[in-house]
Order: sequence, then structure tokens, then C-alpha cells
Amino acid sequence: MELAKRGARVILACRDRKKGEAVARNIKKKTMNPNVYSMLLDLASLHSVREFVEDFNRSEPQLHILINNAAYLGPKATTDDHIERSFGVNYLGHFLLTKLFVEKLHKNAPSRIINVVSDSYQWGKLDFQDLAMHHNYSIYRAYARSKLSQAIHTVEMHRRLFKECIWTFGVHPGACNTELLRNWPGLTGQLLRVMARILFKTPEQGAQTIVYCAVAEKVREQAGMVFVNCNAIQFAKRIRDYQQARKLWNASLHLIGCDDEIEPEEVEEATHEADTALE
Ligand SMILES: NC(=O)c1ccc[n+]([C@@H]2O[C@H](COP(=O)([O-])OP(=O)(O)OC[C@H]3O[C@@H](n4cnc5c(N)ncnc54)[C@H](OP(=O)(O)O)[C@@H]3O)[C@@H](O)[C@H]2O)c1
Repeated sequence: MELAKRGARVILACRDRKKGEAVARNIKKKTMNPNVYSMLLDLASLHSVREFVEDFNRSEPQLHILINNAAYLGPKATTDDHIERSFGVNYLGHFLLTKLFVEKLHKNAPSRIINVVSDSYQWGKLDFQDLAMHHNYSIYRAYARSKLSQAIHTVEMHRRLFKECIWTFGVHPGACNTELLRNWPGLTGQLLRVMARILFKTPEQGAQTIVYCAVAEKVREQAGMVFVNCNAIQFAKRIRDYQQARKLWNASLHLIGCDDEIEPEEVEEATHEADTALE
């Protein structure tokens, strides 16, 4: 809504066509901006991510700002590609989406990638021997791990793309009363949803820092950092660890079927680690 108000051409990438179209119509009506569209994207399917990018490229010659916002938080489930769902939707789907858009972002540089993380990344643990989370699954642990992966990816994209004038930012929107807790079952879920209604920010308030990273002029020097309440904070040293980023990068390449892009001497390790992500 905020981006449409500012006159941007906005493409909403949604997994439910009808819902997406209804939201796009509503934003058009409220902002008087006719350039708001919805396109189909299911981040729980690598095939859908590829199809979305093809559709997008057919109709959209430009892309200046990619906002990786979608998330799953809920009971143990898997994606269409048999990957633990929080990791698959919140991280791997966005990993592929971003990868497929790099060329376009490069052509339209200076451009921006905004990864909506969460402060939970600080409590995330990445066990490469059990990426499927067969052991010790909990809703929060899986979510925190997916957000940790997204945080590591934010730093890695910054390392790789900053010199190409593609600026990557992490954003923690703060605790917001959105639909995120909808899949949390039982009494805990009910309590969390009540708490969210009373104590959390509104979705509009939560969106402010995302919008800031999308449009602010003097943020180039803060690329690679995480923004909270429109202030940039350096990611902790463990998030910036190069070896961990390399392992995650290689495992992700294997999971999306791009073994040919992994250094030959690293393929074996990557394959073994990535395969622990599969059911
Ligand atoms: N809410 C918070 O307190 C909070 C705190 C920190 C960080 N965040 C982060 O903020 C971002 C936005 O979350 P939110 O709070 O707005 O939650 P939300 O209301 O649940 O929104 C998540 C969005 O992701 C979409 N989505 C889920 N699975 C998808 C899939 N497979 N393919 C495509 N889209 C999918 C949902 O689509 P549908 O409408 O079709 O379900 C929904 O529009 C997330 O990255 C979340 O981790 C939120």
C-alpha cells in the first residue's frame, strides 16, 4: 500500500490467485495507482518460483526492489519438494527467487533486495546434519532456523552484490499483529494470538521499516545490515561467518538443482549436507 501510494508499479506475488487479485484491486482503489498487479507464486514449490520468474520477465521489463516477505510458521510440514516447510518457504524459495532475479536487478541497478527476517534469527541453530529437522522439531525452532538462514543469506548477497550496486537489507519489522500465528495450534497458539491483538504493532506499523529500506535515499552504506525501527544494526559475527555462509550457499544450490555452480571440491560435502534436508 505504502509503495503504491508513492507511485511505484507494484507486483504482489501471491499463492492464492483470487485473494491476490482482491488485494491488488483494493490497493488500486485506495491509492488511485492503477499499476498494482497480482501474480501467482507459491514459495513452497521451486517449480512455481521458476514459473513466476518466467511470467514476471514476460510482462515486466524492470525490477528495482525485491521484497522477500512471505513466511510460514506452524507445525511440522514439508514443501512440494519435500523440504521442511519453514526452511523451504522462508529461506529456500526466496533463495531461488533472488537468484533468478539477480540479472534483472543488476540491469536495473542501483536496486535493492529486502529480506524480511525476524529477531528470532538470533536464537536459530543451523544443523547441517539434520536440515529436515527430524530431531527436536518445534514450531519456534524451525522458524528461528529459517530466519537465521535468511539472515546469513542477506549478508552473503551483500558480499556478492554490493559492488554491482545491488543493496541487500535485512528488516526485523517487530512483533506485529498479522496472520503469522494462525497455524500455531492449541492453547499456546490461542494465547499468542490474544497477546498479539493486545500488545503487538499493527501490520501498517510493522511495514514502516520495510518501506524505509525500499525508498530511503541514504541507506547505501548500511547495506548488508539489519534494520529495526528504521535503524541499521550490524549482524552479529556468527551470522557473518564466511564458512557457514559457504556451506549454506552450496547446500542451497544443491537443493535447487544447481550442482554445476558448486566448486568441484565442495560438491561432495554440499550434496551430503543438502540431502539431510529431504524427507
Ligand atoms: N508478525 C510478526 O510479529 C513478525 C515478526 C518478525 C518478523 N516477521 C516477518 O514478517 C514477514 C511477514 O509476515 P507477517 O507477519 O505479515 O505474516 P502473515 O500475515 O502470515 O503473512 C505472511 C504472508 O506470506 C504468505 N505466504 C505464506 N506461505 C506462502 C507460500 N508458500 N507462497 C507464497 N506466499 C506465502 C502468506 O500468504 P497467504 O495470505 O496466502 O497465507 C502471507 O501473505 C515474514 O517474513 C515474517 O517472518 C513477522
